[in-house]
Amino acid sequence: MKLSVIGCGYLGAVHAAAMAELGHEVVGIDVDPNKVATLAAGEAPFFEPGLPEILASGIASGRLSFSTDMADVVGAKVHFVAVGTPQRKGENAADLTYVDAAIDSLIPYLSDGDLVAGKSTVPVGTAARLAEKVAAGSGAHLAWNPEFLREGFAVEDTISPDRLVYGLPGGDAFEVAKSALDEVYEVALSRDTPLVVTDYATAELVKVSANAFLATKISFINAMAEIAETTGADVTQLADAIGFDARIGRRFLNAGVGFGGGCLPKDIRAFTARAEELGRGESVAFLKEVDSINLRRRQKVVDLVVESFDGQIFGKKVAVLGLAFKPDSDDIRDSPALDVAARLKGLGAEVIATDPEAIANAKRTHPQLDFTTDIDEALTGADAVVVVTEWKVFRELDPARVAGLVARPYVIDGRNCLVPSDWRDAGWTYQGLGRP
Ligand code: UGA
Repeated sequence: MKLSVIGCGYLGAVHAAAMAELGHEVVGIDVDPNKVATLAAGEAPFFEPGLPEILASGIASGRLSFSTDMADVVGAKVHFVAVGTPQRKGENAADLTYVDAAIDSLIPYLSDGDLVAGKSTVPVGTAARLAEKVAAGSGAHLAWNPEFLREGFAVEDTISPDRLVYGLPGGDAFEVAKSALDEVYEVALSRDTPLVVTDYATAELVKVSANAFLATKISFINAMAEIAETTGADVTQLADAIGFDARIGRRFLNAGVGFGGGCLPKDIRAFTARAEELGRGESVAFLKEVDSINLRRRQKVVDLVVESFDGQIFGKKVAVLGLAFKPDSDDIRDSPALDVAARLKGLGAEVIATDPEAIANAKRTHPQLDFTTDIDEALTGADAVVVVTEWKVFRELDPARVAGLVARPYVIDGRNCLVPSDWRDAGWTYQGLGRP
């Protein structure tokens, strides 16, 4: 099937390459000529395991191409819109500028019977508005087809999704839209992937409520960590124990420095803003609390470092292990790790940060920090070590060996990802979050 993907960021680039991998003929469109040149050369513009391989094979097969020229979508039957919907500056609401611009520039190139399939995360009500725009400017239809991929597992999640959701128009367009999407997802559907066929509003809400639920789960366990900290309880054991209840489940109950990234934080804020617009602010007022709990955990890590120096942090060398918002990603958008590094630096600490993939991005936004790709160099002479992204290389550090590098063996495990007894036995003062 011939497809186009408008917007080649984390979502669109992976979607385009994965659809080509599944046998479709795909053109990816982006306004950024550098990104398009990189992708067209078969290289990934960001770190995502498995992406370089499917980009290269897609380009080599001739099924995958990239362009800055919207006219190149002509001939495609389904056009995925995968542009960003960031938080508006100074507000909680989502900025829909890129979605509207993508639809406006796509409309002149649509043929009768084409399907525009929205993938971007949008406030409920957006698809209905865009459907009118598409209908007024073309003979095409609109569907909303949210995406649930996780960074770090994006290729796997796109090729083998755990569910598919189609938000479809009513009337005659329903069957046209459904059969087009069924053809796109033929492989996943043949493997009995659960499919929910619904209306626009439900499809939009499925996406934001899924992220709101995940954010709430993380903030719930982080709230328990706060209680554990004042009572001497251990939040990781608590999470294990409640996680054995199949109704609760252990996943997304890892207490630590909290959630970040390009999705969870901005999605809960945009959801709150949209609910308020709809006069239903109270229904999701708890998401403000979810956000506050989350942001408090970053300060908690900073406070622990400062306390370890009896308040005298100025000039102390702090090694910050991690910059990405989670492992296996170079994404630093709203990263708790980078935030902690910047706050410590702001207090006068001599911060040296390391990360296997995110240094280049962090350097651009936080030039005031010092970086090194060499973990040992970061640790050498450190007065405190802070682990804020649970990369495997950090989890596998040998505490006895690295104790010999630092000036003071003091580690704050902001992700509860180290084995406390191993570090204590090697002479370290170990401090986790929500743990005695
Ligand atoms: C999230 C959702 O998990 C995806 O399903 C969704 O498609 C995506 O947003 C999106 O909207 O595009 P992602 O942002 O890649 O995916 O990251 P997550 O794996 O959800 O992690 C988010 C944050 O929560 C990270 O900072 C992570 O470190 C943190 N986290 C996660 C915790 O602090 N504790 C946990 O137990 C789990």
